[in-house]
Amino acid sequence: MAFETIIVDVEDDIATITLNRPDALNALNSTLLGELCTALEEADANDKVRCIIITGSEKAFAAGADISEMADKSFVDMYTSRFFQNETDRFARIRKPIIAAVSGYALGGGCELAMMCDFIIAADTAKFGQPEINLGVIAGMGGTQRLTRFVGKSKAMDMHLTGRFMNAEEAERSGLVSRVVPAKKLMAEARSAADKIAEKSQIAAMAAKDAVDRAFETTLTEGLNYERRLFQAMFATDDQSEGMTAFTEKREAQFRDK
Ligand code: HXC
Repeated sequence: MAFETIIVDVEDDIATITLNRPDALNALNSTLLGELCTALEEADANDKVRCIIITGSEKAFAAGADISEMADKSFVDMYTSRFFQNETDRFARIRKPIIAAVSGYALGGGCELAMMCDFIIAADTAKFGQPEINLGVIAGMGGTQRLTRFVGKSKAMDMHLTGRFMNAEEAERSGLVSRVVPAKKLMAEARSAADKIAEKSQIAAMAAKDAVDRAFETTLTEGLNYERRLFQAMFATDDQSEGMTAFTEKREAQFRDK
């Protein structure tokens, strides 16, 4: 399918989705978010794809929701249209691992989109921020909730109340991103992480994603029960048997997603 605001490239078993509105620093409008969800759903349904990377340009992952699309809206418009809510719901249903590869600005909805991915690899040029307060509003795609869980209350309040940006080094130190690499190496690093994930049993990768996500939603006791059930369920798969047999036979496992 041809898209207007994103570029999709499926190579080997990795789908790379590049946000592509260069004139607006990849600002997220309804078209872009709709296309992104369609591409994610296609990748999720494509048996050949085992991991997904979302990235932007060197200058911007995404500089936020498109301010020109929002500027004239009223409360009633936002409320009745469930602005961006259908898209975030669609995003949350993707079961395959998603890596955000962030270079340059990841602001407002851009920071929130990166946080919706399973983990973030940042270029040393990355700048994260929730500057909505400068526009007389607050974050609306999960930033007050997710950033707080990632970096704790003090830094989250600082970011949301002052609108300041966090550089890549601070983002790694605070737990927002998993790795920082020189900008030139960003895509190679994301690709190598995706390749590593693609080698694993896809059932185990989906279960790991599901269980870690559960940590955001529930109590420790419930989360531990959830993990235990999924762990036990792994023993109904051929991949568990193959993985453990391969270990004892000192050879690489050949997972078949069964
Ligand atoms: C629409 C945007 C945009 C945005 C940048 N542009 N960000 N257009 N929405 N969020 C456009 C500019 O208007 C400009 O277009 C072009 O991209 C280049 O941007 P400049 O500002 O000229 O670049 P620069 O001086 O390098 O500054 C970069 C920047 C700045 C610091 C990232 O653009 C900026 O502050 N952007 C807004 C960031 C922001 O407030 N994001 C939060 C949005 S609210 P022209 O046509 O003039 O060249 C949000 C809420 C989400 O995300 C919740 C949804 C439910």
